[in-house]
Amino acid sequence: MNTTATPTSAAPVTLGTRLTRHYGLTLPVVLAPMALASGAALAQACADAGALALVGGGYGDLAWTRHEYSLARPAQAAGRLGCGFITWKLDQDASALDWLLDQPENRPRAVMLSFGDPRPYAPRIRAAGADLICQVQRLEQVPLALEAGARVIVAQGAEAGGHGMNALNGRATLSFVPELADWLAAHSPDTLLLAAGGVADGRSLAAVLMLGADGALVGSRLWASAESLAPAGAKQQAVATSGDGTARSPVFDILRRKNWPQPYDFRAIRNALHRRWESRIDALQADPEAARAEYDAGVAQGDYEAAHATVGEAVGLIHDCPPAAEILRRMGEQAAALLGRQA
Ligand SMILES: Cc1cc2nc3c(=O)[nH]c(=O)nc-3n(C[C@H](O)[C@H](O)[C@H](O)COP(=O)(O)O)c2cc1C
Repeated sequence: MNTTATPTSAAPVTLGTRLTRHYGLTLPVVLAPMALASGAALAQACADAGALALVGGGYGDLAWTRHEYSLARPAQAAGRLGCGFITWKLDQDASALDWLLDQPENRPRAVMLSFGDPRPYAPRIRAAGADLICQVQRLEQVPLALEAGARVIVAQGAEAGGHGMNALNGRATLSFVPELADWLAAHSPDTLLLAAGGVADGRSLAAVLMLGADGALVGSRLWASAESLAPAGAKQQAVATSGDGTARSPVFDILRRKNWPQPYDFRAIRNALHRRWESRIDALQADPEAARAEYDAGVAQGDYEAAHATVGEAVGLIHDCPPAAEILRRMGEQAAALLGRQA
């Protein structure tokens, strides 16, 4: 670990790593590109607070991506704005990526690809002057990401909110990050490493830096912020839920008619509708319409015992939804204090 921490009471904390030096940040934090949650306001707030901010391009909706990315223009001017996409969805429609890469005045600093083969898109991303960030869930996926030219690898543990590897294939952040740090040190030492999954306060940020990461990709904690586009009812449910209260399964993907390929599934709050179907996935697949109607009604009514709230196990560390700057200030100060103590 090569980290410098400068906690002072007067100035915002700066916590330097290879990541902060590469992107001109003051905190080794990247806003996860959370589909429909990481919009312009959250991206702008995170960039202003010293992090790299990735707009949640998600399933590649051109209108949504264009709108949110364009509104976050000041973050782009600071060189702290990028965007993320779900790779297998780009295989069907890459118009949002094409639009993003065709913004000569508003180029993304980085593009993150997750859940699929990044190689078909990598040359266009690099040609546009953006770094390629690849999120992986297993060590065996790393050579392909490097072949694509990834500047940054994100090691996503199965604790993470949203999509990731299913239970048979998923890794835990605590052991995956140091194993990958060692692997990169031996095979590709200039590649930067981010940890994702469970980083929600200064303790977990300091921990992943100690494990050999250059920074953290933070999803759930910033989802529960004032600026996140997540519905207020979902945020309220998250604040009242402990870390025991999430589960990983395909239930909500089936209910949402999202055709996710194996071996990925989805972590969210394990609400009443989820519990009813989680042990009967085959039956849900075979005849989903009644459950989908219940889910759709839950979404329409803001009933989060039917509609889903997307957070990971870190939800147990989330007790409020303040502005993102406050979340990042707390995270940075606590991590700097702990790392200072370690030193
Ligand atoms: C609400 C939500 C939406 C997400 N959407 C995406 C997405 O569209 N693309 C993606 O690569 N990862 C997505 N993720 C996963 C994040 O990239 C990241 O791996 C994860 O949030 C890290 O774990 P944490 O939630 O414990 O911070 C999402 C996560 C959340 C919580």
